[in-house]
Amino acid sequence: MSKVKKGIILAGGSGSRLYPLTTFLTKQLQPVYDKPMIYYPLSTLIENGVAEICLISKPDQLPLFESILGDGSKFGVRIEYHPQPSPDGIAQSFLIAEDFIGKESVALILGDNIFHSPAVFRDTFANFEGGAAIFAYRVQDPQRYGVVEFDPSGNAVSLEEKPKQPKSNYVVPGIYLYDRNVARLTRELKPSARGELEITDLNLAYLHAKTLRVSRLPRGFAWLDAGTSSSLHEASSFVQTLEKRQGIKIGCPEEAAYRAGLIGKKKLCELIHAMPACEYKDYLLKLEREIEAELDGA
Ligand code: DAU
Repeated sequence: MSKVKKGIILAGGSGSRLYPLTTFLTKQLQPVYDKPMIYYPLSTLIENGVAEICLISKPDQLPLFESILGDGSKFGVRIEYHPQPSPDGIAQSFLIAEDFIGKESVALILGDNIFHSPAVFRDTFANFEGGAAIFAYRVQDPQRYGVVEFDPSGNAVSLEEKPKQPKSNYVVPGIYLYDRNVARLTRELKPSARGELEITDLNLAYLHAKTLRVSRLPRGFAWLDAGTSSSLHEASSFVQTLEKRQGIKIGCPEEAAYRAGLIGKKKLCELIHAMPACEYKDYLLKLEREIEAELDGA
């Protein structure tokens, strides 16, 4: 059972690196192979037991997100929508979502981050006791990200945003867990040279208070961010390859909600039967038959 029940999906930003694709449609609604990008981070939160979601995006895009996801009840969750008028930093999401967070812990996921496989986060969500929890993932090009340096015993000792000379190859992916102090600590941050409330500065505040936990993600785990035309294309190819090879779907919120116990079999069947004929529906019909066989065998 997850101790973190609330989650923010940050799905705004200028999307300038994807121009002209983003002229009308924001990045997080673009297709990643067979579904909108937003399905992936949404599924990651659902898989980890998050049932209350605050989606933040540009004011003109919020109605589009709402037309796809509704109030969340079809996935057994509650989704509320909040505007970010200008992209003033990832950490600004905690000020926008302050009332939503209330006095509870909260997860934040970036709307263009795709993770596979999700079980990796389960223990961190289930055992979260306060402070902040972030992850570290080994990449070839750390200077593009927030970089973590570890001491020989494996403790995180420094964090730097896009350093020219990275102290390690471990970077921080866009999924974070914070305790109830997050909005208060964000308010103490100063905008960076690029004029943003930086998520790395917030993580540094927790690091200095010795309440930051950094877990290294295993080598076989996949993390993709789909922020440029080529990484968007690569993410689509990755999803297509895995889905074809394994006969599973990545980023399927209906399945995630069923497996997390947020919707039952009856609701899942209703959702499937309301879908138009398509490959996505065929997959869920197959899942429905598998679930029936499992229940019959139980
Ligand atoms: O992807 C992980 C990296 O994300 C971390 O390693 C970095 O520490 C963190 O700063 C961030 O790096 P970027 O500078 O590359 O993030 P970017 O500005 O591309 O924003 C990430 C997503 O968040 C993107 O989909 C747009 C959205 N966003 C960003 C900002 C600054 C917003 O919705 N609002 C914002 O104000």
